Amino acid sequence: MARTTFYITTPIYYPSDDLHVGHAYTTVAADALARFHRLRGEEVFFLTGTDEHGQKIERRAAAAGLAPAPFVEGIVAGIRSLWEQLGISHDGFLRTTEERHARAVQEVFRTLRDRGDIYKASYEGWYCTPCEAFWLPSKLVDGNCPDCGRPVERLREESYFFRLSRYQKRLLAHLEEHPDFVQPPSRRNEMLNFVRQGLEDLSISRTSFSWGIPVPDDPDHVIYVWFDALLNYLSGIGYPDEGFRHWWPAQLHLVGKEIVRFHAVIWPCILMALDLPLPERVYGHGWLLMGDTKMSKSRGNTVDPRQLIQRYGRDALRYFLLREVPFGSDGAYSEEALVRRTNVDLANDLGNLLSRTTAMIERFAGGVIPPGGADPGGLARLSEEVTGEVTRALEGLELSGALTAVWRLVARANKLIEERSPWALAKAGDPALDPLLYSLAETLRVTAVLLAPFLMDTPGRILEQLGSPAAPAWADAAWGGLVPGTRIRRGAPLFPRLVPDPAGPQHPAAVPAAPPEEVSLEEFQRLDLRIATVREASQVAGADRLLRLSLALDGEVRTVVAGIAAAYRPEDLVGRQVLFLANLRPARIRGVTSQGMILAASGSDGPRLLSPDRDVPDGTRVR
Ligand code: MSP
Repeated sequence: MARTTFYITTPIYYPSDDLHVGHAYTTVAADALARFHRLRGEEVFFLTGTDEHGQKIERRAAAAGLAPAPFVEGIVAGIRSLWEQLGISHDGFLRTTEERHARAVQEVFRTLRDRGDIYKASYEGWYCTPCEAFWLPSKLVDGNCPDCGRPVERLREESYFFRLSRYQKRLLAHLEEHPDFVQPPSRRNEMLNFVRQGLEDLSISRTSFSWGIPVPDDPDHVIYVWFDALLNYLSGIGYPDEGFRHWWPAQLHLVGKEIVRFHAVIWPCILMALDLPLPERVYGHGWLLMGDTKMSKSRGNTVDPRQLIQRYGRDALRYFLLREVPFGSDGAYSEEALVRRTNVDLANDLGNLLSRTTAMIERFAGGVIPPGGADPGGLARLSEEVTGEVTRALEGLELSGALTAVWRLVARANKLIEERSPWALAKAGDPALDPLLYSLAETLRVTAVLLAPFLMDTPGRILEQLGSPAAPAWADAAWGGLVPGTRIRRGAPLFPRLVPDPAGPQHPAAVPAAPPEEVSLEEFQRLDLRIATVREASQVAGADRLLRLSLALDGEVRTVVAGIAAAYRPEDLVGRQVLFLANLRPARIRGVTSQGMILAASGSDGPRLLSPDRDVPDGTRVR
């Protein structure tokens, strides 16, 4: 039987500037989905590329004093190398300046002109060059582009038109009958409204500039850049040669929400005119925002993904992009948030689980995986539940939801270590120890498999430490794969803790310490050190590294502000006992009066909170 094929695409990016984190976001998401389908044994084709023609690129090149072709060359090379650094596993990379693409575009143009779907007339209207989009006067907002708000230019040209209007009814019927065709539902509704209002024929050639694919037999005209660009999804798989049918129709066009209209209106009409089946799904994801505006070159608020990879590693960046924002929604980017995610989820939760588990297997089981047993703490059951959940989430493109599910499993395993305290079991020679260690190690193995679509290096490093084969398939997420008797190989911590924003205020550990001065016992006793329990914890508004804590202290409640947000999530602190300096002079920090200070070990590793080794009554003095 033929294997299921899965054809997935990203938009092809304009090489008008170096790409930023927003572009990386789409590509990393597509990569995770492509990897997931490959792990399931499907035959995958993952296409990306560059959209190199059009007036925008021609003008950018001219501004740089170059012809368009040499101008884009360096940028395209940079894009390829960025994808390599991020571990993008595309099977095809299409440049619209390639011969194979021009051939496909001209072939389509000819076919549609022969069929009467393309005709020549004169165009009068408006054009937004940054968006490369035509607009009717009625659609302009205050005379500007309704999409980006920038000024439009008046065009009066002879032009070829594509008979979009002819396909309006069929497209509307398709949208209505296939609720999955455009997703998420908010975008589908926008498109339904748009198409219901009627479709005008679309101008698809220009004569006022020349950087594009010439119209066959009428070389004064170049083909409109979007008509050219959309056809990459066919030329990239070999169209017009018959082989393209192996992959077509695409299962998924992943695009940013601002270009859904091109993919959900113009593209299906071109395909209908060609008598080709429509793609199964067009998904319009949200934007990465800086503050509350889109990250984009024209707003000058972009972040270079290369720097983030260098500073934090590609897995930290990939994890952050896929975990931080629910996939269909907009979400804010910040470096602090990236650092916090890495420290809390990757270094603490996942990294500690691995280092504690392998340390215990070395100490208590001679460095080999011990035999398993009954299901301690329900980890096997939970693991199967989570695997199902991650699979469903990935099928539904809920990338962040999939990762949240994986972390339920990781959190449960960490909790189990606390609950069962293996050290005590070892001391008492309790036979429950072996199955517990097995379950913890097996949880890590399953976690590594479930993370394989998302992260590049981490899954292999986990599996290697567990002595398990490195190249998993999705089916390997089934519980019970670890073979007792396998020798483990403890390794370096998975994620070193990160210190946020090196350009920001110095971390205390980075300030050279003055040699400590001697104090008398009386002086020391002036410090009112107590144990307190965290009752509430929340982020301080507008201060990424600060948490506001309410502490229970022997009948009284104190508010303190602590600079530990890069290392601890508020919800993980509630219920925890901390060491507290109760008679520190109150201070106002970011509008909150801090009544004391919690103490932490502060090394280059960031703050680590101190707690008594078993719970004591709140307010207990520390001497
Ligand atoms: N060349 C067209 C696409 C043609 S597809 C046939 C284009 N290119 S682009 O370089 O502007 O890149 C657009 C894509 O980059 C968006 O659709 C989106 O997927 C991604 N993003 C660019 N900025 C982004 C954010 N700030 N946030 C999320 N994604 C962003 O449009």
